[in-house]
Amino acid sequence: MGKLEEKLENYFNENYLPMHMPGHKRNINLLGEKLPYKIDITEIDGFDDLHHATGMIKDIEEKAKRLYGSKRSFLLVNGSTCGILAGIRAMTKYGDKVLVARNSHKSVYNAIEINNLNPIYLLPKIDKYGIDKNIDINDIKEKLENNKDIKLVIIISPTYEGVISDIKKVVEISHKYNVPVLVDEAHGAHLKFINKLSENEAINAGADIVIQSLHKTLPALTGTAVLHIQGEYVKKENIERELSIFETSSPSYILISSIEECLDIVKDKGEELFKNYEENLKYFYKETKKLKKLKILGNKILEEKTNNEDEYYDFGKIVVLTNNCKITGKELSDILRTDYKIELEMSSINYALAMTSICDTKENFDRLLQALIEIDEKLEKEKVKIVKEIEKTRKIEIKLPKKEIGILDAINNENIEFLDYNKLEGRISKEYIWVYPPGIPLITPGEEISIETIDKIKEFLQAGIEIRTTNNKFPKIEIIK
Ligand SMILES: Cc1ncc(COP(=O)(O)O)c(C=O)c1O
Repeated sequence: MGKLEEKLENYFNENYLPMHMPGHKRNINLLGEKLPYKIDITEIDGFDDLHHATGMIKDIEEKAKRLYGSKRSFLLVNGSTCGILAGIRAMTKYGDKVLVARNSHKSVYNAIEINNLNPIYLLPKIDKYGIDKNIDINDIKEKLENNKDIKLVIIISPTYEGVISDIKKVVEISHKYNVPVLVDEAHGAHLKFINKLSENEAINAGADIVIQSLHKTLPALTGTAVLHIQGEYVKKENIERELSIFETSSPSYILISSIEECLDIVKDKGEELFKNYEENLKYFYKETKKLKKLKILGNKILEEKTNNEDEYYDFGKIVVLTNNCKITGKELSDILRTDYKIELEMSSINYALAMTSICDTKENFDRLLQALIEIDEKLEKEKVKIVKEIEKTRKIEIKLPKKEIGILDAINNENIEFLDYNKLEGRISKEYIWVYPPGIPLITPGEEISIETIDKIKEFLQAGIEIRTTNNKFPKIEIIK
């Protein structure tokens, strides 16, 4: 059984006349070969159908299933986004109650909106650096006990910053209450192949639906992802139905080939690649212990290791803490970009985050290391004013905003006005207010904007962090009169 990519090449060489989509007609004389027009087809005879896979696409799904040990795996070409939308819709009915990690990605909130779900939030605690901790099992237990009508538990693991929850325990407790678990593992397609973390990869740990972006942490083209299911709670027909709603009806075969290539690389060469990767990471963490002012979160975790919880951290996420020196995370990220041509994944008030993968060479790690050493030498050891301020407020327990009306009701409300964000104390938002990246909401539609939220927004702005809203009219926010 040859690979899809070879079949696409062969098909091009056979010189079929394409009297069908796509409109580029593989005309490389006109368009050149810089982009892969030659192998860009969509569903034509003999090439299977992503929405009803029985042939070559089914074979790739089988590869994913075998690699991750699921009952069934679906290929996604619209990112984890479409898998999360489809997964949540497949597991809930309009108006159902769901238990949701508050630090969820916006696709989770979009699913809540579409199905008019009633979310009960799991609010993660934050650590002393302002980073969300893992899911508190007692919190899940208490909420399931007090809300016997919850139909689905939705959590994110790993988080953007690499914090992994104890999925085994989450599943154990949720299943006790007869509630299935969906894990947004968009940042964890590689966990299964990392020593010590594989057990806690969500499929291994028993989750019912798991969605992973292959493109985030494995060698695959942007937009590629997989949705895995297992157990008795999930009906594959429901997933298929929802994927046919949320996923394009013209899937790119280039992306599907990339999924196959990625799965094959991990299966055939993964052992060596992950071994090298873990060695490079160990080396990087060891060398960065020498930094005097900048600190690496992973090293702090290793130093302060006190309980099992600390084992669940993805060291592939390099979180550089700037809270003890005179720059913000955003400024560090800007220096790395302008002076060293190193582009990080994201930055926040007092940290910046570099994502790594098996495709990073030792030279890549060295380049980042040398840049950090040089920057560290020049830095003054003094806290930025804004960091001092937020460290004070961090000691105060964070609270969930007060929900006045449901997300969908707020969105449908036409009795609105636009006001400046700092005049909104006590008003109900009609839109989302996100910190960007990663796009976790400070406020969802229907929630009351408190003075604490306004202060939080000010803090982010002072540190140069972007605030986005649904209408893109910030600092004006649409509120319900
Ligand atoms: C936690 C999380 N979940 C889901 C997604 C959506 O993934 P994708 O970009 O593959 O659609 C993202 C994207 O950044 C994410 O960070």
